[in-house]
Amino acid sequence: MAASPSHSPPFGAIHISEDLTPLPQLKPAGNIDVTFDGQLSRPLRLREDLRTGCGGQTWPAGIVLGKHMLRYHRHELQDARILELGAGGGLVGLAVALGCGVESRLMLTDQDEMFELMKHNIGLNNVEDKATASILNWGEPLPQEVVDYKPNVILAGECVYFEPAFPLLMQTLKDLIVLNPNAVVYFCFKKRRRADMQFVKMAKKAFTVEEIFDEDRPVFSRESLFLFTFTAKRNKGGAPQSKTPAVVSTTTPTPPTS
Ligand SMILES: C[S@@+](CC[C@H](N)C(=O)[O-])C[C@H]1O[C@@H](n2cnc3c(N)ncnc32)[C@H](O)[C@@H]1O
Repeated sequence: MAASPSHSPPFGAIHISEDLTPLPQLKPAGNIDVTFDGQLSRPLRLREDLRTGCGGQTWPAGIVLGKHMLRYHRHELQDARILELGAGGGLVGLAVALGCGVESRLMLTDQDEMFELMKHNIGLNNVEDKATASILNWGEPLPQEVVDYKPNVILAGECVYFEPAFPLLMQTLKDLIVLNPNAVVYFCFKKRRRADMQFVKMAKKAFTVEEIFDEDRPVFSRESLFLFTFTAKRNKGGAPQSKTPAVVSTTTPTPPTS
């Protein structure tokens, strides 16, 4: 199937069963509380609603990533500029907003279909001063507000699940690293099909990919969950290797007139 710029799987029981196996329970809409195994003293309250897309419920990689960020990065995230990709209802980003005392408002991003749910969950947790919801379609040029924000921490939980979207997600990750070569991407996904590892191969070509320490790794590895950081490849002197900007002008330059 050809990938259109904002391609993501159409939502429905059939696509869910094909694309996010094993078949998740199609929960009725409602609120859940998440503490990330006690990492949050005040639980994160999330509305789950699958009517507009699979991001309307929480996924295992989002839980692992949220817990990892709270457990190991709480302090350094306070003054970070954080952007979440494929946020769905905002599981990971809102956990950080609640638990890390962030100083600048972090950006939850997803497709248009998830916008209302992200906004709803920001309100549900009273973190309007700590988080915003925005539309960011993978593979499309970064929105101006993202370019201006220049995030240095990118969160992506359970964003590897639909093969035609892999190049789009990869393009967005490359664009974000070009935008800020010092950015760190925290990336967690559950391998459901062999093809999912293709994404890791693509990532290894583009970035430095590291499996980071987490004392839960033996447990989540058994469930085929992977947790990585992606950072810019660096040359011997430690400087980020220069990258070609993702968006280049296609107009023929006119010779300068003297
Ligand atoms: C499986 S959900 C994960 C939600 C959440 N991060 C979690 O871990 O619970 C994947 C998310 O990626 C988003 N997504 C899929 N394709 C996308 C695209 N082309 N552009 C932006 N977001 C996309 C979906 O809308 C969905 O919210």
